[in-house]
Amino acid sequence: MSGRIPREFIDDLLVRVDIVDLIDSHVPLKKAGSSYVARCPFHTEKSPSFSVNRKKQFYHCFGCGVGGNAISFLIEFSHLEFVEAIEDLAGFVGIDVPREKDFGLSVQKQDYSALYSILEQVAVFYVEQLRNSPEGKGAIKYLKHRGLSGEIAKEFSLGYAPDRWDALASRFDNSLLLKAGMLTSKENGKSFDRFRGRLVFPIRDKRKRIVGFGGRVLDDSLPKYLNSPETPIFSKGKELYGLFELLEKDSRPKRILLVEGYMDVLALSQFGINYSVAVLGTAPSKTHMDLLFRFTSEIVFCFDGDIAGKKAAWRAVQETFSCLRDGRLARVMLLPQAQDPDSLIRELGVDEFERQILNSQTLSGYFFEYISKEIDLSTIEGRACLISEAKPHIEKIPGGVFREMMLEELDGLSPGTNLKKLDVPPVTLTSDSLPSTMHNREKIVMALLLQNPEMVELIEKTNPDWEKMSFRTKDALLDVMGVIEKNQLKNTGRLLEVYRDSPERHQWLSEIAMLEALPLENNEFDAQQAFEGALIELFKQGKKQYFNDMMEEKVKRVVSKER
Ligand code: UTP
Ligand code: MN
Repeated sequence: MSGRIPREFIDDLLVRVDIVDLIDSHVPLKKAGSSYVARCPFHTEKSPSFSVNRKKQFYHCFGCGVGGNAISFLIEFSHLEFVEAIEDLAGFVGIDVPREKDFGLSVQKQDYSALYSILEQVAVFYVEQLRNSPEGKGAIKYLKHRGLSGEIAKEFSLGYAPDRWDALASRFDNSLLLKAGMLTSKENGKSFDRFRGRLVFPIRDKRKRIVGFGGRVLDDSLPKYLNSPETPIFSKGKELYGLFELLEKDSRPKRILLVEGYMDVLALSQFGINYSVAVLGTAPSKTHMDLLFRFTSEIVFCFDGDIAGKKAAWRAVQETFSCLRDGRLARVMLLPQAQDPDSLIRELGVDEFERQILNSQTLSGYFFEYISKEIDLSTIEGRACLISEAKPHIEKIPGGVFREMMLEELDGLSPGTNLKKLDVPPVTLTSDSLPSTMHNREKIVMALLLQNPEMVELIEKTNPDWEKMSFRTKDALLDVMGVIEKNQLKNTGRLLEVYRDSPERHQWLSEIAMLEALPLENNEFDAQQAFEGALIELFKQGKKQYFNDMMEEKVKRVVSKER
């Protein structure tokens, strides 16, 4: 268990980090006027519209509209969770992340670095065994026989586990090996190597750390594959084989193929299709899909044509429904009987294989075909059955266009039944529709304040009578002012960070903060003057509005008395 990261630490971290240095270490920046620019890492473009501002500690792309502080950058660029981003950022400035104490007990962050480190050493040992031991020759021969090159072996750090009980046990710390799942213990309490006489596949998490291994026999003895057991750093339900290697090549792949086996990932990569990942001998879970959808907007399930493969595909589809926000796409590519991606690409070649990926069934097509397979849609009973089968699945899709279309499709398949009974909640409004309805002046005041937190003083100086003022964003403005004053915040990046726990407001404020990110060369623009001007107008208007509201109230009261 790890405690919460204290808010003050996060703020302190943002004071120490310079967003220009941070981003420059990932995307080389060029100075342009008072800011730094580069070609945007989040979309493809020819001329740079990605701008980083040191004073604001904020980045913004005028092309695709992304923007945020140092933490947001790491979350977006390196695909990290919030806590991971904090850890990386702390690493960047060379400090440790403290954790808050829970219930008076000191909850220490578990330190698994020894486990990661032992697995890294084991992987190096296995690679060495593959390349330079007499026994390893057999494994190399096997790889060649499977049509895999030395480059692929190198890229995926493939290795060989010697056929001995103590190849690891005699070399490394046994208690660490045991914790990392590399030993199995016998009844007599003695431990020995888990992987023996196998080709081994290191499994990396998305941050490059080795978390476990898979291992295949070189003949047809059983079990064919072994995998690391669940350990504190390895969970099959969360990891995907090949994901790290894929992201190394392309951090935003157009689509990702989800396949069943280690060998499939390797064979596809051998043929230049380096956008596949494999589940680790488990059913694909929602967690897997959520993970994949962080990097791509399209997942293609590419499962064997046997009964087990079909079952796995259906399972995968069900797991995916709840992740299908608009803009995300899933497809199902069912392979012919007795084929897997490894065998099929060798048979078809890469062009035909890729053509089949593009022509694979959409999730909706697959879904309706699968679900209505054994239903006679010419009878009322059959159509009622279809609805009761399909409804629970479709209801898992988050509200949006895709869900509506699935319901329409169901409606079309079962005419005569009243789908309105399905009780679809209205499509939820996203926060981005808010700024556009906001009055211009409110927008300007909020944007300039977010960008120049020190101007909060200018508001205080006018000594506004808040009670006798009414405008839509008054509460939000007061809130932001309070946050700035309480935390003595001096730049946009730190200010927005305070709102990260309220995702809607964070999003909304981030968008507004970017509105006025005017071309920074434009030195004519006097922020203070613009702010004071807008403020005076806003307050004037706020008073008027308040007065009107009061009048309306009075009129209402009078009218209701008359009745
Ligand atoms: P397959 O049996 O389809 O093997 O298992 P494969 O990937 O085609 O391998 P080759 O081509 O025969 O070498 C698919 C996946 O299921 C898991 C492994 O993750 C494997 O990659 N599996 C399979 C096991 O965990 N244990 C087994 O005994 C077999
Ligand atoms: Mn295979």
